[in-house]
Amino acid sequence: MIRTIEWTEQGVVMIDQRVLPAEEIYPCYTDYLQVAEAIRTMVVRGAPAIGVAAAMGVALGVREIRDLPEGAYEEKFEEICRTIEATRPTAVNLFWAVRRMRALFETSRAASREERVRIFRDEAVAMYHEDIAINRRMGEFGQALLPQKGTVLTHCNAGALATAGFGTALGVIRAACQAGKEIQVLADETRPFLQGARLTAWELAQDGIPVKILCDNMAGWMMQKGRIDCVIVGADRIAANGDVANKIGTYGVAVLARENSIPFYVAAPISTLDLALESGQGIPIEERDPAEVTDWKGIRIAPAGVSAWNPAFDVTPSRYVTAIITERGVARAPYTESLRALAGSK
Ligand code: MRU
Repeated sequence: MIRTIEWTEQGVVMIDQRVLPAEEIYPCYTDYLQVAEAIRTMVVRGAPAIGVAAAMGVALGVREIRDLPEGAYEEKFEEICRTIEATRPTAVNLFWAVRRMRALFETSRAASREERVRIFRDEAVAMYHEDIAINRRMGEFGQALLPQKGTVLTHCNAGALATAGFGTALGVIRAACQAGKEIQVLADETRPFLQGARLTAWELAQDGIPVKILCDNMAGWMMQKGRIDCVIVGADRIAANGDVANKIGTYGVAVLARENSIPFYVAAPISTLDLALESGQGIPIEERDPAEVTDWKGIRIAPAGVSAWNPAFDVTPSRYVTAIITERGVARAPYTESLRALAGSK
């Protein structure tokens, strides 16, 4: 089993996703500032995994501040939440997780400081377990959409490494394989961080699921040649109208899928919905350091003096999305109605 993130009494242990697959190391992060930095620098990444890391970071913070006087205690709790929220802007699961911890602060006012340390730890650990259960349910709903035998293209990593375990898009693929379907995966390499080439390929290979890597510019040709039966990706934030923010490059894949009459599926938990946003136009898109594009492992690959753009996400308009798979069922257009109905159901 892939151990993406784990709560231990020493701190939060996370597999360092910056160095996979060359190295498999599990550093332990012992305070909330370290967890915040780990999210920012993408030791841990993927919307649901960021949410769980954020919750565990807040829980560590509550342990660190337990001896502060009352006023300072409240102020510092707010600072912890704000620090963690400031790490990455696009994945809404981060804000969802911190909101849940803030609500817990209110409902645990009667508890002692030591009890609160335990209450926050238990909530963060519960969120970890819930995420795995959600992914398994999503897998069941989603696998029914995949062919009995075929090739599925995915972009970025929406797998066990992007969640507490099992994965969203890759969870659907795992569930299909477990149901006896013969699925081959094509993983877009996903420049510049190479989540596809490094992470998706690594975790599928660990599970014995057949996977081949495509450079990001190959998908169109492969679709035109009939070598892709469907596309499935995860999401970082989904607006009320079904517009989907996901890793940069997803939009291009979705347009190519439509051009070639190939279904384009999105798998994401209800916590990735942001129904307060009418459309994807309101989704904040993270801009990362141009050096991620111009350099590789500290070696410059672009000419000296030339910079680069580095938007980390794009928004796929909902008209390109065949269906959105959640743990409560599958939503189809018109998404404004179907997503709201799923969000309101239990
Ligand atoms: O920048 P990243 O690696 O955090 O981006 C991750 C993605 O875009 C994933 O596809 C998304 O979070 C869904 S993960 C289940």
